Amino acid sequence: MRLILLGAPGAGKGTQANFIKEKYNIPQISTGDMLRAAIKAGTEMGMAAKKVMDAGGLVSDDIMIGLVKDRLQDADCANGYLFDGFPRTIAQADAMKEAGINVDYVLEIDVPDESIVERMSGRRSHPGSGRVYHLKFNPPKVDNLDDITGEPLILRDDDQAETVKKRLTVYHNQTEVLLGYYNKWAQSGLPGAPKYRRISGVGPVEQIRDAAFAALEE
Ligand code: AP5
Ligand code: ZN
Repeated sequence: MRLILLGAPGAGKGTQANFIKEKYNIPQISTGDMLRAAIKAGTEMGMAAKKVMDAGGLVSDDIMIGLVKDRLQDADCANGYLFDGFPRTIAQADAMKEAGINVDYVLEIDVPDESIVERMSGRRSHPGSGRVYHLKFNPPKVDNLDDITGEPLILRDDDQAETVKKRLTVYHNQTEVLLGYYNKWAQSGLPGAPKYRRISGVGPVEQIRDAAFAALEE
């Protein structure tokens, strides 16, 4: 299984990626997680990316395309992969196409902007695994600790209300256009075209998981 998860910041891409990657036994390629790992490691690229991320902007296409191409060389990507947060611009999608990095499905998770800020303010993340929780909607078993490792959960630096609003604007200006890009490609029936599926991301996490699983079987 090879797929792309599309959706606004906070739509639940990371949450659903965790279910899908387990079901299909494929790696989750989250470009946001990769950038946060680079920040934690203190690399030059990570430090430059942090400024952009904290301002709610997008890291340059060249850097992102390079990161993803490198990651796909790893042995665990041989049987499939799940993209979470990539591609995010037409330039990134075109670069994938040119490199012949195809997917079987593009799965859009649709959540209205009104729900997003509340989701972000209650989010708690486990940096090691990318697992995400929500204080109200998806709480960890023990306060502020990851269910599996027991390690502390963190608040992301870019989850303050003002930054979230900026990220949503950037999403509408630069990423949302990919919905039409992939939809059109899917309908073309051309070789290498993905199947396009859209599900609502509003409702209990398990309900959305089941809708995602069903969409990927069709
Ligand atoms: P990235 O990490 O990709 O962030 P994002 O796309 O903004 O998405 P999020 O991770 O915020 O949300 P999500 O959809 O994964 O939702 P989640 O499951 O966590 O990118 C961060 C930054 O890195 C970007 O701003 C950019 O600067 C840079 N970057 C990354 N990739 C890039 C690229 N390709 N090009 C350029 N720059 C790039 O859920 C959110 C919350 O809601 C959680 O608390 C969760 O528990 C809760 N929740 C989930 N599902 C539900 C539900 N059904 N009901 C209620 N709450 C729910
Ligand atoms: Zn995420």
